[in-house]
Amino acid sequence: MGEILDKYKTVKPEDVKSWFKAAPISAFPKDGGACVKYKDLQIAVFNFERLGTWYACQNLSPEKQEMVLSRGMIGDHKGTPMVACPLHKKIFSLENGENLNGDLDAIATYPVKIDGENVYIGFSE
Ligand code: FES
Repeated sequence: MGEILDKYKTVKPEDVKSWFKAAPISAFPKDGGACVKYKDLQIAVFNFERLGTWYACQNLSPEKQEMVLSRGMIGDHKGTPMVACPLHKKIFSLENGENLNGDLDAIATYPVKIDGENVYIGFSE
């Protein structure tokens, strides 16, 4: 199971080498998420409309290793935008992936950009 988690590595904005065209903006619910497949990865992309911001992270919850984070509620934890895993409500920062209410490993996060009508996810390969 560890190998699945190992595929997900945070990409910093300065390390982006390619922008993957994920889907049109209209494919993402306002203030919610959707799962995008990239190679053998599942990436959760969130349209955080209340903040006017987009976020992306691994879809894999590190606890039970289920592909569920795109279905999690997004919100605010002490000023940090976060997603709550729908299974056991562990919450993760959408800015740096940190587990904000426990000691799970941080999840991987990815840059997002909007160009025209489309949403792109940044990868370092
Ligand atoms: S599986 Fe996500 S918090 Fe338990």
